[in-house]
Amino acid sequence: MKYAVLGTGMVGRAIASRLVELGHETMMGSRSADGGAEWADGAGDLASAGTFAEAAGFGELVFNCTAGSGAVEAVTSAADALAVKVLIDVTNPIDASGDAPTLFTGIDDSLGERVQAAVPSARVVKALNTINADVMTHPGIVPGEHVCFVCGDDEDAKRTAVELLGEFGWPPERVIDCGDLTGARATEAYLLIWLKMWGAIGSARWNIAIERGTD
Ligand SMILES: NC(=O)c1ccc[n+]([C@@H]2O[C@H](COP(=O)([O-])OP(=O)(O)OC[C@H]3O[C@@H](n4cnc5c(N)ncnc54)[C@H](OP(=O)(O)O)[C@@H]3O)[C@@H](O)[C@H]2O)c1
Repeated sequence: MKYAVLGTGMVGRAIASRLVELGHETMMGSRSADGGAEWADGAGDLASAGTFAEAAGFGELVFNCTAGSGAVEAVTSAADALAVKVLIDVTNPIDASGDAPTLFTGIDDSLGERVQAAVPSARVVKALNTINADVMTHPGIVPGEHVCFVCGDDEDAKRTAVELLGEFGWPPERVIDCGDLTGARATEAYLLIWLKMWGAIGSARWNIAIERGTD
């Protein structure tokens, strides 16, 4: 399968590099045609770069790894090419402009839902947004049975996403299904805890595991 990664930041580069490492043809998208060129030049024959729309046209499955503030704008610019495709949305609506970080969507909305509303014909799956870029693409760098989350309105799209997460190193039993896309309200709000933990731990390379007690 061919993949597209919208976004040239650390998440876009980590996911695009992981896809190439797994042997997949991958195009990185940016606002400009050559925004991902430096990554593509260094990533080998399977890698290429283009605009958001060109990348979305190339990929059969597309990751949205753009800045939260530009996420809707980015997918809107590629809307036609995203029709029917699985769109894995990794973005977070963090507003860091004040004394303490908040969510610019509020908690009765989510960026995942806004992305879906912007491209209604795409099949949005929210995933990986709760984990540092290095850990999401190589979960083995953190020991233990730690977990990631998915949610989305299209069950087939979620299944496709879970399969790909398996290639990244997330076995299905460590992928927690948070239901329909309103689950993104929870997984995005989790970032407020993530940021606190980052400060407390002093590293971004950590994740959460679910430990059950007896009922
Ligand atoms: N850092 C992490 O480990 C981590 C983990 C989980 C989730 N996330 C989330 O993943 C996303 C990407 O994070 P990042 O740190 O890799 O990159 P970032 O610096 O937040 O975003 C870079 C990308 O956003 C695009 N962009 C910026 N403003 C835009 C606008 N107004 N319209 C369209 N596109 C715009 C840029 O386009 P150009 O290429 O044209 O400059 C670039 O491709 C964020 O939403 C973040 O919250 C991050």
